[in-house]
Amino acid sequence: MANQLWIKKPLDKLMAESSDEGNQLKRTLSATSLVALGIGAIIGAGLFSLTGIAAAEHAGPAVTISFVLAAFGCAFAGLCYAEFASMIPIAGSAYTYSYATMGEFVAWIIGWDLVLEYALGAATVAVSWSRYLLEFLSGFGIHLPVELVCSPFEVVKLSDGTVVEGGLINLPAILIVGLLSLLLIRGTQGSALMNNVLVIVKILVVLVFIALGWSHIDPVNYTPYIPENTGSYGHFGWSGIARGAAVVFFAFIGFDAVSTAAQEAKNPQRDMPIGILGSLIICTILYVLFAHVMTGLVNYTEFVNDAKPAATAFAKTGYDFLQTGLILAILAGYTSVMLVMLLGQSRVFYTMSKDGLLPPFFSVIHKKYHTPWKTNLFFLVFVSLFAGFVPVSDLGHMVSIGTLFAFCLVCAGVWLMRIRMPHLHRAFKTPLVPFVPIMGIGICVYLMSSLPLESWYRLALWLALGLAIYFLYGKKHSKLNQEDN
Ligand code: ALA
Repeated sequence: MANQLWIKKPLDKLMAESSDEGNQLKRTLSATSLVALGIGAIIGAGLFSLTGIAAAEHAGPAVTISFVLAAFGCAFAGLCYAEFASMIPIAGSAYTYSYATMGEFVAWIIGWDLVLEYALGAATVAVSWSRYLLEFLSGFGIHLPVELVCSPFEVVKLSDGTVVEGGLINLPAILIVGLLSLLLIRGTQGSALMNNVLVIVKILVVLVFIALGWSHIDPVNYTPYIPENTGSYGHFGWSGIARGAAVVFFAFIGFDAVSTAAQEAKNPQRDMPIGILGSLIICTILYVLFAHVMTGLVNYTEFVNDAKPAATAFAKTGYDFLQTGLILAILAGYTSVMLVMLLGQSRVFYTMSKDGLLPPFFSVIHKKYHTPWKTNLFFLVFVSLFAGFVPVSDLGHMVSIGTLFAFCLVCAGVWLMRIRMPHLHRAFKTPLVPFVPIMGIGICVYLMSSLPLESWYRLALWLALGLAIYFLYGKKHSKLNQEDN
């Protein structure tokens, strides 16, 4: 009986399933679309919201160092992801990889954990979207009632500087989640096209911000570059840089979402590594420059409770006429992040359901649109609840810890696979194994350890709930386990 927990999905079976006629997901994405999908998922609330929070509360101007630290962790994990994705080009991301390498139990844990990354990731961005929307509307003198745009435990600094503590519900965040979920139900081809446009807009915003902001940097804002620790862990000093890295780590999340679209890639073997690593490198360069300009324009202390720091900083440049356009572009750019997150989430649950670990409900494919529409509807409600009622920083911490945990498992999986199946064809091979996986695990665990204790409790609670569902449902209904008996 105990063996069933560790039952592994044979690779040939995985491959057969991906070309199975019953699998109706269409192969429409090229290498360029995959890089765009990556950048589309990567640049978002992490950069435009959490950079400010990380600077104000944890790292000061040294948030740039936080970005570099987080990028290293992602690069090591990204190399491992790329090997997996090129070896097992199937929808489902880290969940699928671990099913083939570490067995069903670990696969379940990771699939369950990915909800924190994708579903809560989408919720985090939706909250930040709502903040920029308020800023945009206030530019036209429109002020929505605070109760309807702010969740109960949230502290929000409005554009006029007033600080609001707690409302009832974040309605704009719910609205955007609903709209995008419905769009996804119509199919990924249309969404990929729209995503490409949004990615160009987003890169332009970042470049314009850096280019126009650079000459307005006040060097005084860089002193001290690493503010002295206040006496508590994570509040400035080196521990602040580490916690800042765990916070802005959120800004890198998404490159792995590329791997969830493997089943929809035209040439997954070649294109998956290009999509994952290409998008990661481009974003790292942009982030460090952006954070440098942002903390140079405004003193980091001014970013406290400011969930729209890019707008605050850009206001210092004096290019007022561009401010509205900038905010509008950020708002548009966020939609591509949410699209990829919601898409990744639905594909993970789709695959888990196909495997019998979740009810068949989650793998029902829409007859006309060929999408797992019921899963999309389920997550429309789930993500909305978090977006409507939980503050952005709590959500961000949960996403970071959940994703870091998933990255650790992926790094371990690549290493394990090299030992167990050394001769298997890998279109992309992670260099320096086991050094790279060990570094990936080391940095991710370090970043996890620098997050507040509550995040650990919440992660434990979420995993406990997942285990209960697995033992009550998944283990009994697992198709692999049933075939084996
Ligand atoms: N990396 C994505 C963002 O920053 C999730 O919004």
